[in-house]
Amino acid sequence: MKLVIGGSSGFLGTELTRQALLNPAVTSVVALSRRETPDIASDSSKLHSVVCDDFENYSDSVKAALENADACIWTIAVTPSKLQIVPYEEACKISRDYAVKAIQALAELRKDPKGPLRFIYISGHMSFRSPGELPEILKTHGLRDYALMRGDAEVQILKYAEQSNGAVESCVAKPGLIDVPGQERKSIPGVPNIYLSEAAAGLLDQAINGFEKDTLGNDDMARIGQKALAKQ
Ligand SMILES: NC(=O)c1ccc[n+]([C@@H]2O[C@H](COP(=O)([O-])OP(=O)(O)OC[C@H]3O[C@@H](n4cnc5c(N)ncnc54)[C@H](OP(=O)(O)O)[C@@H]3O)[C@@H](O)[C@H]2O)c1
Repeated sequence: MKLVIGGSSGFLGTELTRQALLNPAVTSVVALSRRETPDIASDSSKLHSVVCDDFENYSDSVKAALENADACIWTIAVTPSKLQIVPYEEACKISRDYAVKAIQALAELRKDPKGPLRFIYISGHMSFRSPGELPEILKTHGLRDYALMRGDAEVQILKYAEQSNGAVESCVAKPGLIDVPGQERKSIPGVPNIYLSEAAAGLLDQAINGFEKDTLGNDDMARIGQKALAKQ
């Protein structure tokens, strides 16, 4: 399968790329980022590092690299910790609009597909699709608009697939805090944790084998990831 990893240079994207390169079910890894993705596995023939300088209007060379993808895991976003250094409008564009552009472009760039395009949008545990879903703690919190903006992205990604007549399947993954074993676990009250390797393994499993459901919570990701790692 040809797998696109949007944001292959990031924390989660790097682990996804590493595991995808080691997975025999993935024959081609398109590592799409604003900078070069280093080759971190021995089989470099599988890795295609694609540097993109405009995620709203893909160049012809980026489009060519994205042609006929079978699946995509989209990690590009401005995370809450970086919101202070990125203007809010820019954060919306990067975290929501780039993903919506990606699912559209990948669907359009498929010629003679043998099955649906599978697209996974990585969101977060504290993203919500309507103001009514917001927990009390977020209603007056500075992250309220961000949480709803990420929820809006989730809705748009799921809706695109619903309206695609079966050409696209989409899934939203909502991890809690992602940790690395051996390092201090992050902690925010009410937010669960997941290990990086499990999160990546769970996402890869779903991209390769199909989606269990359209929205995967932290516990789903951990369960699927642990099972996938145990099989290896
Ligand atoms: N880490 C966590 O604990 C956690 C928890 C819950 C949800 N998530 C979600 O998981 C996803 C990945 O998070 P992460 O921790 O891997 O974040 P990250 O390390 O900051 O990676 C984010 C990715 O987005 C890219 N990016 C940021 N601004 C960009 C721009 N202007 N143009 C193009 N690319 C841009 C980054 O590129 P560069 O590498 O070049 O900066 C990187 O590839 C996000 O959706 C995040 O909200 C993360």
